[in-house]
Amino acid sequence: MKKTAMLLTAVSFLSTAAFAANTAACAGCHGKDFEKAAMGQSKVVKDMSKEDIIASLKAYKAGTGGHSAMKGVMQGQAKGLSDADIEAIAEQIAGGKEEAKSATDEVVDAAKDAADDAAKQVADKAVDTATQKATEKAAGMLK
Ligand code: HEC
Repeated sequence: MKKTAMLLTAVSFLSTAAFAANTAACAGCHGKDFEKAAMGQSKVVKDMSKEDIIASLKAYKAGTGGHSAMKGVMQGQAKGLSDADIEAIAEQIAGGKEEAKSATDEVVDAAKDAADDAAKQVADKAVDTATQKATEKAAGMLK
């Protein structure tokens, strides 16, 4: 038990350290949180989806990606990245964002369900009331 906990701590420390090394090289151009347009040319990477980041890094790595005169710069940056590096970088930049989005979607869905239920209850109640009134009226006519 204790060993497992220590191992987990070591693994998470290692992956954090490895990750810090990976993106430290990017910060000079893209900003610490990928919040800048690198050299005035790139998209703001933190606004991209995880899939887009992976796709564009793989394309730079293959030497085919890019959209400005500065694409050679980024192709050089991506050359040294493994697919695992690319996955980890994209997860770090955009992974949490997608989790947050799916959590938001869940809340929105739950709210919609609740609204549907409430609307249904109101409709049911209206039908009940109308039925009861009609029944009373019919009973009055029979008297
Ligand atoms: C020397 C400056 C520089 C460094 C360092 C750098 N980049 Fe870039 N990056 C750019 C430029 C310039 C572009 C836009 C190139 C283009 O496609 O025309 C770009 C584009 C990108 C894009 C695609 C955004 C778009 O505009 O389509 C991603 C994703 C990206 N970089 C990630 C990284 C990552 C991850 C690192 C670190 C491993 C990194 N960059 C390091 C300059 C840099």
